[in-house]
Amino acid sequence: MSGDALSREEAVARIDRLRTELRRHDHLYYGLDSPEIDDAAYDALFRELRGLEEVCPDLVTPDSPTQRVGAAPLVSFGQVTHFEPMLSLANAKDEAELAAWHVRIVRLTGEAGLDPGALRFTLEPKIDGLAVSLRYQRGALVSGATRGDGSIGEDVTQNLRTIAAIPLVLLAGGGPVPELVEVRGEVYLPLAAFERLNESRLAEGESTFANPRNAAAGSLRQLDQRITASRPLSMWAYGVIAPSGELPPGQWEILRWLKEHGFRVSRDVRLVTGLDEIVAACRDWERRRADLDYDIDGVVVKVDSRLVQQALGAAGRDPRWAVAYKFAPTTAQTRLLEIRVNVGRTGMLNPYAVLAPVEVGGVTVSQATLHNEDDIRRKDLRVGDMVIVQRAGDVIPQVVSPLTDLRTGTELQFAMPEACPSCATPVVRVPGEVAVRCPNPDCPAKAVEVLKHFVSRGAMDIEGVGDKIVQRLFDLGLVRDPADLYALSESDLMPLDGFQERAVTNVLAAIAGSRTRPFSRVVFALGIPHVGGQNAELLVARFRTMEALQAAEVDDIAGVEGLGPVIAESVHSFLHEPKAAHLVRRLAAAGVRMEAETGSAPVGDGILVGTSFVLTGTLPTMTRDVAVALIEAAGGRVVGSVSAKTDYVVAGDSPGSKLAKARKLGVRELDEAGLRALVESEADSGLD
Ligand code: IVH
Repeated sequence: MSGDALSREEAVARIDRLRTELRRHDHLYYGLDSPEIDDAAYDALFRELRGLEEVCPDLVTPDSPTQRVGAAPLVSFGQVTHFEPMLSLANAKDEAELAAWHVRIVRLTGEAGLDPGALRFTLEPKIDGLAVSLRYQRGALVSGATRGDGSIGEDVTQNLRTIAAIPLVLLAGGGPVPELVEVRGEVYLPLAAFERLNESRLAEGESTFANPRNAAAGSLRQLDQRITASRPLSMWAYGVIAPSGELPPGQWEILRWLKEHGFRVSRDVRLVTGLDEIVAACRDWERRRADLDYDIDGVVVKVDSRLVQQALGAAGRDPRWAVAYKFAPTTAQTRLLEIRVNVGRTGMLNPYAVLAPVEVGGVTVSQATLHNEDDIRRKDLRVGDMVIVQRAGDVIPQVVSPLTDLRTGTELQFAMPEACPSCATPVVRVPGEVAVRCPNPDCPAKAVEVLKHFVSRGAMDIEGVGDKIVQRLFDLGLVRDPADLYALSESDLMPLDGFQERAVTNVLAAIAGSRTRPFSRVVFALGIPHVGGQNAELLVARFRTMEALQAAEVDDIAGVEGLGPVIAESVHSFLHEPKAAHLVRRLAAAGVRMEAETGSAPVGDGILVGTSFVLTGTLPTMTRDVAVALIEAAGGRVVGSVSAKTDYVVAGDSPGSKLAKARKLGVRELDEAGLRALVESEADSGLD
């Protein structure tokens, strides 16, 4: 779709749609570490949006995904504001785009009154991991954060400290250390370690990570530092910022500065002149890609001189002076065995491909997305075809095209079922949309998807209640809608096979703990079509309470900056369905939060408001997450280290130095039973 082919009205609608989609994918990728689409597909959406905005500049809003970086951080870690935003990189998808970038750099350098003849470029691998920023004060590591939304990241200091490649104190060999510096780099899991980790997870019956990037992100964003420490994470450093001190004049010397101060810098970095050398080096890397011990998805080309970098500046979220040359995505051939259809949360029928298992870029692929029926038609995919499958180093593989030359004539055309595969209700085609929906409000497949969404990580984040348990609870008739979760009792769960006493306690505690999720999570968890995490936040920021949201007219909602008429209509009609209104009432009665928190601190109604806890050691029956959930559900706060202000230390088996410190400071001590008693006294004094 190109910008000039659309009418104004169509462009408005398409832009709205693209922004909604991109925000959702940002949230999935940055917020939840579970992307649905690969980089190439994301980039295509992003480019399309940017193209449309270039054609219609008056439609650019400050909250467009083109105007900012990533998604909001999760609530479970503290926040760190980066000294300077952590920028993103523009992509060059082939050599022609790389050449175009080079031409532009030469021109802009000349226009800035600098000598383009003196341009040099530093080339670094684009490591597929997760960007972090490390702050050193007088040479000591004081905090470390993820990228988050680019301006504010999650405070993962404790976890970063466990990574051997990160110096806790800057090495002084590199001369005097500036008062304050922020070092930027990429945390990653070496391929061998990734494979070992997945093997041991399989052996323990746990789910495996789809790729090293997810494994690195999942390992770094653990509330329990010990889990992070058990994973052999590493880091390549590639940048440094010093608000107070002098830094070398170019990127090449900065890399040396980093090495001299104790960081790991890729051995393969290069300093080159001119486009020919850039292209030759990129080709060389692409050839050697498979020999490396870590995943790279491209080469980052940076103008070396910081003076030139400053003159070139940034365009939106991308610096003009750097570009990521992306390697061609990995593809393979296999047979399309079957096209199946599943029913989504909103009743949408989603076709997907079942493939003969094939290895693509080191991962075995047996399923791929097939967006919708039109997509299947456009690509002319037929069941039985040999197809090209693509995985751009990321998660969900795509079917690119059929190999029509290999057809035998026995291949079958696909038609969307006329009836819902779950409840057999005749499906309806949504006018003006390619989608086909099951219109039955009581479709069991929908109900299960609604539940899965409700408990999922970005929503109510109910740990221990995964897809399988949701399905089982639904099949047994114990849980029909999200409000039923809050009525579950031990006697409901105990008889389920595979459930032991400890698991039951943990699940019930996790459900109870979800009552204090922020209101924006609740709005997101309801599963309103078009309302992802960010739109939920916008709604909550404007309306504050469920009551106000339910009372809002379509125009009131459409008037919120960042929400268009499509979303407004969707929110309004969803909340006015009797079924949704009923659900909201029951959730409220179950104690789920129905209004925005005042201020930014987590506020509970419980008796533990304002009380801080430190956890140390292993508790006999509760996991750490459950203990945290119990404390937070009662309004308390769990902090990382003991100070004189700590109210309680909860100690289990083999407690660490925290307990010793707590004793020294006279902090009150609790064991698991003590914690339970304290939290239960809260439940007794509760509002219901
Ligand atoms: S520089 C100046 N250098 O790519 C722009 N980024 O798309 C800031 N990345 O968030 C990034 N290797 O996570 C830079 N050698 C490298 C990199 C690199 C990987 C990642 C990084 C960043 C993303 C930007």
